[in-house]
Amino acid sequence: MYKNQANQKGFVLWFTGLSQAGKTSVGNRVHQILKEKGLKLERLDGDIVRQSLSKDLGFSKKDRDENIRRITMVARLLSKNNIGVICSFISPYRKIRDMARRETNNFIEVFCNAPLGICEKRDKKGLYQKARRGEILNFTGVSDPYESPQTPEIELRTDQESIEESTNKIIKYLEENSFI
Ligand code: ADX
Repeated sequence: MYKNQANQKGFVLWFTGLSQAGKTSVGNRVHQILKEKGLKLERLDGDIVRQSLSKDLGFSKKDRDENIRRITMVARLLSKNNIGVICSFISPYRKIRDMARRETNNFIEVFCNAPLGICEKRDKKGLYQKARRGEILNFTGVSDPYESPQTPEIELRTDQESIEESTNKIIKYLEENSFI
């Protein structure tokens, strides 16, 4: 039995991890399944937000923190109005992720954990190659840090699990915690 729109609780599913760790792929699949169940949802994704809301920002620590601060504001408003928000951002810094947790309703941190070597091998956008050649600076995992979550609500081993298996872990968590 699933909740209908009228008694849906807001939440923020926050995917964090390296580029190519599967944040967008799993986030999209979760979005599709929850949509089919009739939930009210919104999707916030790094590549899209960086062409719009955060178009003026780069990848220094200051700019990445500002990016997350803006997204948090949007996620806060949506979750407050009982919408499920699915966010996929590298969000490499622990402190600003914790700020997002404090500022939003029902923050669920989803760590997309895949070793750098695997992410680098996938390299669908060719960005790791560019970063290795020094054509992109401050690239997470190569020339910029990534601070892993210490106590995420959900950890996905996206190098070992299929998208479907990772998605099922999230659906199970949402069911067990009465979000769906
Ligand atoms: S975050 O660090 O501020 O959370 P965000 O998730 O919005 O990053 O954007 C990451 C996306 O920007 C990556 O998927 C990649 O396509 C692109 N990108 C461009 N330059 C960089 C860089 N130096 N480091 C990481 N990602 C980069």
